Amino acid sequence: VWTDFERATIKDIFSKIDCQSVGHQALARCLVVYPWTQRYFGNFGNLYNAAAILGNPKVAAHGLTVVHGLETAVKNMDNIKATFTDLSVLHSEKLRVDPDNFRLLADCITIVIAASLGASFTAEVQAALQKFMAVVVSALGKQYH
Ligand code: HEM
Repeated sequence: VWTDFERATIKDIFSKIDCQSVGHQALARCLVVYPWTQRYFGNFGNLYNAAAILGNPKVAAHGLTVVHGLETAVKNMDNIKATFTDLSVLHSEKLRVDPDNFRLLADCITIVIAASLGASFTAEVQAALQKFMAVVVSALGKQYH
């Protein structure tokens, strides 16, 4: 259940951020800081070091895909689990992504959004975003068994 403040804050954040840049920076950061996450992106080519990861156009494109996924969740805030059923099945059964990694990427996304919002990223905004990302992570993990 969301408060009016949380609802307004999440919509406001996703209307303000540069989705391309946030997605790119966050996915690149995840691949650099948690290098085992690279194993799922074997078809992305050169992920040899941080510069290669940041300069890899497939990382940029896929980062945007991830943020578009989050935007779908923003549009369906009362129904995130159902909205992400297919995406959860894809990550578990087809991609076989270890669900612990969802939280790691979610934290990278939170950090990059915080950096991009600057002073408007107050403690209350942080709490709302943290809660939203936790619901997303839980929804993505839902179809694992
Ligand atoms: C694909 C979202 C976390 C690995 C996708 C797609 C979306 C998405 C929307 C495209 C699905 C499609 O084509 O139908 C998300 C969100 C995440 C998340 C919102 C969490 C915030 C992760 C993590 C990993 C991962 C942590 C691995 C460490 C992949 C891979 C693909 C994929 C390998 C397929 C990429 C390709 O070959 O095009 N994800 N994802 N995802 N995701 Fe995730």
